[in-house]
Order: sequence, then C-alpha cells, then structure tokens
Amino acid sequence: MLFLIVFRMIVIAITAASVTSERHSLEVEIENGWVRGDQITPSLFSWRGIPYAKPPLGKLRFEPPQKPDNWTGTWDASYDRSQCMQTVSDDIASVIFPRGDEDCLYINVYTPKIFAAKQLDAVFVYTPVIEHQHKGAVITGSYFNRLSSGNFPKIPVMIGYNSNEVLYFKLIMDLLTPFMVMYDFIPALLVPSSLRANKSDLVEIGTEIKNHYVGPFGSFAPSHFKQLRKFMNDNEFIRPIQQTARFLARYTRTYLYVFSYHHSGEDGAGHEAELSYLFNSEDNSYSDKYIKKCMTKLWTNFGIYGNPTPHNIEQCGNVVWKPIVPGDKLDYLRINLNVSMSTNPSKKDMKFWYKLFEKYANMPLNTY
Ligand SMILES: *[C@@H]1O[C@H](CO)[C@@H](O)[C@H](O)[C@H]1NC(C)=O
Ligand SMILES: *[C@@H]1O[C@H](CO)[C@@H](O)[C@H](O)[C@H]1NC(C)=O
Ligand SMILES: *[C@@H]1O[C@H](CO)[C@@H](O)[C@H](O)[C@H]1NC(C)=O
Repeated sequence: MLFLIVFRMIVIAITAASVTSERHSLEVEIENGWVRGDQITPSLFSWRGIPYAKPPLGKLRFEPPQKPDNWTGTWDASYDRSQCMQTVSDDIASVIFPRGDEDCLYINVYTPKIFAAKQLDAVFVYTPVIEHQHKGAVITGSYFNRLSSGNFPKIPVMIGYNSNEVLYFKLIMDLLTPFMVMYDFIPALLVPSSLRANKSDLVEIGTEIKNHYVGPFGSFAPSHFKQLRKFMNDNEFIRPIQQTARFLARYTRTYLYVFSYHHSGEDGAGHEAELSYLFNSEDNSYSDKYIKKCMTKLWTNFGIYGNPTPHNIEQCGNVVWKPIVPGDKLDYLRINLNVSMSTNPSKKDMKFWYKLFEKYANMPLNTY
C-alpha cells in the first residue's frame, strides 16, 4: 500500500489594498474578516491558524467542507491551531488515544513581504488524491489510468523516498512477530493487492516473492527481520514511488531523490526523517546543518524556479539534479553527505518487481 499523505494547501491572497493606515500593518482583511499576523524575522511574516472551512464537527463530519463563518473583530493569527487527529506508529498510546483534534481546518500563510499591488488568484495545490464519486469530489476515477495516460496537470514534480522508510515500524513488527511466520506458510499473503492478480495465481506469485526475499527454505520469522523490512520497503515505498516517477516523467519534468542521510547507529533514514532538515528543528551537528542548508536550497529553488538546481548550488557541492529521462535508466539524486547523481536505485529488486507485474498484473492496476 502506498501511503498517500493528503496535503491540501490553500494559498490565500493577501492584498495591500486591504492594509489600511489606521490598522496595524500585520492586520489584513480576507473574505471572512480581519486577521492579525506576526513578524517572525525582519523578512518573514506569518498568519497562522486561519480557518479555511467550518470545523467538520457533529453533523458536518464526513460532509463536504462548508465556508467558515465570518467573524467580527480581528482573528488572532499569531499561533498554530490543532493538528488533525492522528496516531503515531512508534507511540502505542497514541493508537488508543489519537492526538490532535477534529477541529483542524486551519491554514498558515508565510510571506517574505506584505504584498503590494494586485489581488492574487487563489491557488489550489493538490497531491493526486482520488476520491469516491460524491458531491464535492475533486478528482475521481482511476489513479493508474490518469497517471499512465498523462491525464493530470503537467507541472514539475519532485518525488522521492528515504532509505529505510519502515525503520519506525519496528515496534509494530515486534508486536506482530508471531504472525510473521504466517508468510512462510501462506505466501499468497505477500501478494500486493495493487497487482489485481487472478486468484489462481496467488500462490505462485507469493512463492516467487518469498523466494526472492528469503529463499525457498527461508523464513520471515524474527531471524529474517531485515529481509521482511526490505520486502516492505521495496513493495510499499520504492516500487510504487519509482513507478509513479517513471509515469510522471513521460509527461512532465520529474526529479527523483533518495534520502539516505542518517546518524551513526541508526539503521538508515526512516519515514519522514527528511522533514527535520526541511522544517524548523534543533540544529545539531555540523553535518546536520550541511544537509539542512543543501535541502532547503534545493526545495526552495524548486518552489521558485520549478528546478532545484537552476544554477550552481554551493550548499550541495554544486551538484546538478537532472530530471528523469523517460526510458530504462532512472536518474536520481542521492541525498547524504555526498550529494550526487546516480542511476537505478535498488535496481535488482525493482527488476524483480517489474517482471512480476508484467507477468501477473491485470490492468488497470488499482494503484501504484
Ligand atoms: C462574509 O463576508 C463577505 C464579505 O467579506 C460577504 O461577501 C459574505 O456574504 C459574508 N458571509 C456571511 C455568511 O455573512
Ligand atoms: C561521492 O559520490 C560520487 C558519485 O557516487 C563518487 O564518485 C565520489 O567518489 C563520492 N565522493 C566521496 C568523497 O565519497
Ligand atoms: C486473469 O484471468 C482472466 C480470465 O481467465 C484472463 O483473461 C487474464 O489474462 C488473466 N490475467 C493474467 C495476468 O494472467
């Protein structure tokens, strides 16, 4: 299963026209009333916790979003509101008592300057999240069909994964250890549903997968924990992300990365490990700072130019991040202390999966 993080961002236009001299300059008027922001640094302003929809509580739960109510007075947009309800895989307590709040439809807006001149168009930025057909659905239909036929907005894409995405699932895997042995006896359980394989092929496919990862007499029991983890990384992250990148690259400029920077003693870069280097986090070692400087440069360049390395980037050793050229070879950027271009990450394992899909998949795949 590919974990799609639903990330909807609404960029709200803030106009100078609405900044009047009687008001504090950090107070701006938006559709629902006045909001007062904050100045974080001399060149960074923020308006945090602006409601962009009514809280989806009570009768509004699971319903299409409603416009927020207007307010009188000035909305205090100087602090973050609640995160949405979520569980955290390495924190068993949060599985039982999820963190966050259903009342979480707030957006933060940051800008280096308070805009002068004209009204900006509202912009909606979506990851491709396919919804069931219902009133208010934005994108429906088959994700695979859209992706493979190029039926999506052709904007540049940056996509990638970390070297050991399932690192933090260790706790869950430890808990489930007794069940892992089931994979040895019922290999059909290993078959990804995205293949939409025929029932009659399940045993054969599962056996091929088992042979590839632990050999015919091997076991997914704790002693082969590393192999189980590799199987999960390959099947749930690397395969779908690489395949998505290949499809995207046919139609639009696509930059692939593999983030593998990690501290000594850690076993690779886990899920979301890269976020500490893109967002505010405690600065630690010299090498942490190096990675942070390099990554924020690549990401902000991409935001500004649609190209992470439009010119020499000293912060990343002047690497040139080449987009994927459609074809067999898969170019990607390795992000670690030696930032460099390389080709075909996890080549051998991906070859195995591509062959398996070629042989057993029924189109359209239900996802990648
Ligand atoms: C909220 O204010 C806007 C003007 O900023 C107005 O167009 C809209 O009708 C108001 N909505 C309600 C529910 O009063
Ligand atoms: C950095 O990576 C490149 C490409 O993989 C390699 O040729 C080079 O030797 C590496 N440099 C260091 C210092 O490891
Ligand atoms: C699955 O079964 C159907 C019906 O027998 C057949 O037409 C199709 O080719 C099979 N798919 C694969 C991938 O073997």
